[in-house]
Amino acid sequence: MAGNSSAIRVAVDQSSIDFQFARDVVEGLSRRSKSLPCRYLYDARGSELFERITSLPEYYPTRTEAEIFRHNAVQLTAPIAGGDFFVEFGSGSSIKTELLLAQLPADVTYMPIDVSQTALDEAVERLRMRFPGLKVTPLIADFSDVSEWPLVLGRRRPTLFFPGSTIGNLHPAEASALLSRWRAALPQGARLIIGVDLRKGLDRLLPAYNDAQGVTAAFNLNLLVRINRELHANFDLGRFAHEAIYDPRYGRIEMHLISKARQTVTVCGRSFDFNLGEGIHTENSYKYNISDFQELARLAGWKTLSVLKDGNDDFSVHELETFVAPGRDEPAFL
Ligand code: AVJ
Repeated sequence: MAGNSSAIRVAVDQSSIDFQFARDVVEGLSRRSKSLPCRYLYDARGSELFERITSLPEYYPTRTEAEIFRHNAVQLTAPIAGGDFFVEFGSGSSIKTELLLAQLPADVTYMPIDVSQTALDEAVERLRMRFPGLKVTPLIADFSDVSEWPLVLGRRRPTLFFPGSTIGNLHPAEASALLSRWRAALPQGARLIIGVDLRKGLDRLLPAYNDAQGVTAAFNLNLLVRINRELHANFDLGRFAHEAIYDPRYGRIEMHLISKARQTVTVCGRSFDFNLGEGIHTENSYKYNISDFQELARLAGWKTLSVLKDGNDDFSVHELETFVAPGRDEPAFL
């Protein structure tokens, strides 16, 4: 009874997410350096605001990556044959995905993996309409949870698709751990097509996270709106400001919410004090050099097949393949 068990799983997941949210927020605000996990930026309103960010004139990553896929769709999809699996993590608005799906042979199985049932339903409905020949098999799961992959994939060699530089949200050590975990759940010869934002001058980087229309500010501040709504908190939105800075030590953009006054905020019945100018760190967005990312991937068991870039070297798409290091048995990277 697959229908029943997935319904139960969704219900359990949703109640546990709320509880987890409360715990994560209280824990994050209790630290000496306050911080909140960036995944909580993406509630319904946050996802909507992020969609608006992707078409801002200053926000180069989305359109640049789309251009790379447009130019290289044939090469990237050529190894995918009928019967193969094409697996995407997070299913967003998928215009980039459609550039590749349009090139796939009939009877390829497209498997979007997402934690959000509604995001999946929406993507599945649209794609079934647009690509009637495509087999669409959604999977509700966190992208780091590989426990069901062997069951679903068997010994097939899928192509995994992880666009958008989502990997940039992770500290490089976590990025490496994620790639290792994926590698360990796959046979030799599986591919990963992954979008990675590149290091560049601050004149391009900073405006991308400090747009003139203030959409990124609204996206960041929406986290406080969500906490107010879901955790009965009383953040005064007028007393916090969006800040995005670049830390060259880590090669990352950091988003913060800065307190514009000395103030006390109540969340889940607990009080949290803020000094004037004190911040909550809400997101990291790591930028890579091509060779640094290739080395990170290689150590996690992925070798480079090709690296694709735009003409400006703003963004990169890496086509990687699982390999077995000499002298090791598969799976080698557990
Ligand atoms: C979705 C993580 C790729 O880091 O550029 C955009 C998120 N935050 N503007 C990024 C984001 C602020 C975005 N990623």
